[in-house]
Amino acid sequence: MNLDGILNIFRAIGEETRLRIMALLQRGELTVSEITQILGQSQPRVSRHLKILTDAGLVEKFREGSWMFYRVTAPAPEATDAILGAVAALNASGDRVVARDGDRFEQSRQARAAIAAAYFEKNAAEWDSVRGLQIEESTVENRMRALLDDGRAGLFIDIGTGTGRILTVFADKFTHGVGFDLSREMLAVARDNLEKSGVSNAQVRHGDLFSLPVETATADVVCIHQVLHFLAEPAAAVREAARLLKPGGKLIISDFAPHELEFLRAEHAHRRLGFSDDEVAAWCAATGLDLVTTETLPPASGVKDALTVKIWLARAPESVRRLKSRAV
Ligand SMILES: C[S@@+](CC[C@H](N)C(=O)[O-])C[C@H]1O[C@@H](n2cnc3c(N)ncnc32)[C@H](O)[C@@H]1O
Repeated sequence: MNLDGILNIFRAIGEETRLRIMALLQRGELTVSEITQILGQSQPRVSRHLKILTDAGLVEKFREGSWMFYRVTAPAPEATDAILGAVAALNASGDRVVARDGDRFEQSRQARAAIAAAYFEKNAAEWDSVRGLQIEESTVENRMRALLDDGRAGLFIDIGTGTGRILTVFADKFTHGVGFDLSREMLAVARDNLEKSGVSNAQVRHGDLFSLPVETATADVVCIHQVLHFLAEPAAAVREAARLLKPGGKLIISDFAPHELEFLRAEHAHRRLGFSDDEVAAWCAATGLDLVTTETLPPASGVKDALTVKIWLARAPESVRRLKSRAV
């Protein structure tokens, strides 16, 4: 990087609000309006600061519908390691202003999660029909079964299990299945569904998918079906899923391809409007998983507001990985 490039980076970071924005984005990606609320500054002012950080290559942005998201550029540009290290140290320092920003960041995350939780609480009993409105679920499930069709898994974990549908559909493909969900209403419906379907080799448990009570490297298959688009940190969910996989274990994700159906945010608590293959590939690469298959299932033609469903299959390397253990 030349003299101008380095100077740009230092000029960008050498201002209080921009340093605070960097500290916030190091905690997780945010929309402009979330940053505005956390900092208590006007949107034009925040947008100006974000432009300077983006021009310097420290921050990258992506638009989805009417929302613009910002995050720390990954991989970090050349010569910024020391700056990112300083920002991390600032976040850990207990500095009063930065700590207050951090608290507001957490409040913003919790408010967001509460909206989704209220949605799931309200829709738990009808979730199976709500899900079916958007996609032809048997087509997706058949493809997922075909992709995993190479023997029976020992431990199968379904993250964000909802009504337990995936555990029911895959019950003949694992010895033991466990579904985790934060919504007690969903879990009650899931228990009922498993019992009614006669599935005795699976159970559901209360748990936060960002920090699951499961030993590292114990699962043969982890499934995340129609969950990631509700989350503020989908990459963190994939990281936690990867932690659970045995060497050679498989992660199967089903979600939407990028779309423009903004009303899903207001009416169905979606945060992200689908995911590109590149984004999923980057999450996998960052956690050491190999993305082995990408499938695209377009909607039937002529269906209003229909969405394209994607299935991504990734595999943990065969060599033993050293990840942080979290006991049950
Ligand atoms: C759209 S539903 C999908 C349910 C199921 N996988 C399916 O396809 O039918 C998303 C589920 O993720 C759960 N969820 C959202 N955030 C979660 C979290 N942090 N930890 C665990 N579950 C979560 C919700 O409660 C909800 O049941």
